[in-house]
Amino acid sequence: MIIKTNVLSPISPHEAEFRKNVFITINQTKIISISKESANGDFEDFSDCVCIPGLIDTHVHLSQFYVRGKHSSDLLDWLQKYIFQAELKSKDESYARKIAEDFFSATVKAGTTTAVIYTAPFKQACESAFEIAKDFGVRAIIGKTMMDCNSPDFLRESTEKSLKESIELFEKWNKSTPLLEYVFSPRFAPVCSSKLMKSVGEFARKNNAYIQTHLSENPDEIKLVKKLFPQFDSYTEVYEKHGILGEKTILGHVIHISEKELNIIKNTNSKIAHCPDSNFFLKSGAFPYERIKNTGIEMALASDVAAGTSLSMFNVMKMFNYRQDNYVVSPQEAFYYATLGGAKILGKDNIIGSVEIGKEADLTFLKIPDIAEKNKDTLLSELLYLGTEKKIKAVFVAGKTFPKFNFQKY
Ligand code: GUN
Ligand code: FE
Repeated sequence: MIIKTNVLSPISPHEAEFRKNVFITINQTKIISISKESANGDFEDFSDCVCIPGLIDTHVHLSQFYVRGKHSSDLLDWLQKYIFQAELKSKDESYARKIAEDFFSATVKAGTTTAVIYTAPFKQACESAFEIAKDFGVRAIIGKTMMDCNSPDFLRESTEKSLKESIELFEKWNKSTPLLEYVFSPRFAPVCSSKLMKSVGEFARKNNAYIQTHLSENPDEIKLVKKLFPQFDSYTEVYEKHGILGEKTILGHVIHISEKELNIIKNTNSKIAHCPDSNFFLKSGAFPYERIKNTGIEMALASDVAAGTSLSMFNVMKMFNYRQDNYVVSPQEAFYYATLGGAKILGKDNIIGSVEIGKEADLTFLKIPDIAEKNKDTLLSELLYLGTEKKIKAVFVAGKTFPKFNFQKY
């Protein structure tokens, strides 16, 4: 397939490339050329669009999709009041399938092609998410949330069951298709036993598996961790000493954090998913972006729905800038962390994250009126501030589009 369009692709946090009126040739799943001429004169005309890499959401809770926007004073209150109850509903298979369908319809319609996902602590809920992701043809890294202590009876599992089911899901689904992988998902230290965390760390290291969890999102959460794990110096050290940290570990939030803890994150090559909309919503605090940037720790953006109010990574990009009081986030920077930066923290920057020859054709096409008059900077700025208003004309994952959706009507 050959598509005539205008390509905007990230290069680094400070640089993007804009190429007008080019022809992208897709062969099977990959981009095989981007040129000024069509190889055979035939093409699909998307020349009223900008083509960007499919957006990457590095931390999102599928089972919370229906309970966005539930106001609360803070994280722990919000979890107790709304979230745990909402996750319980995914115990029912038909509910779990329906919410997964609605979730993936919404991510695709928002231009997101890769998501790193927590599902509820029920095996079937995670199975359903994988089945629907496979059926849709989206790229996803999915895990069953693990919680084996200090949590409501209706969600808590025994350590053995939680481990056994997670390993079964890993064995069944990890790399079951080129688009799907598993992520071990101990929710956060307050609801995980030492045994659970240690076993997850050991298994993931041996099997080169992803791990995701939450770290230092909220002051009361940190106090709770200090009380539950008094023998450790810090929240980060709890994860370090249980073998949770490593290059395939994605830590959500990381707001209230010492230099010593940042050093541990850096030295273990762990990654950070920054969730600015969620941090605003739950008044969790300001992400120390400049400090983290200066350490060289790899990070990317994430929606954290349902504490994030929107699945749109354009909304997240805007919030990334708005949430910083004293640092001006550039449009290039925001764009990078929603695309190539996300691919990088997943170790997938060789296959996704930019529109380049040899990469998988994960592409999002947005209609831009008067695109001929735009330059790179005006277009990037428009995407950062007005991205949620743009019409998405088409989305591709690995060279395949989603004919079920009528994007024009969206
Ligand atoms: N910390 C532990 N669980 C959660 C969750 O579901 N959402 C957020 N934002 N933080 C958490
Ligand atoms: Fe989260």
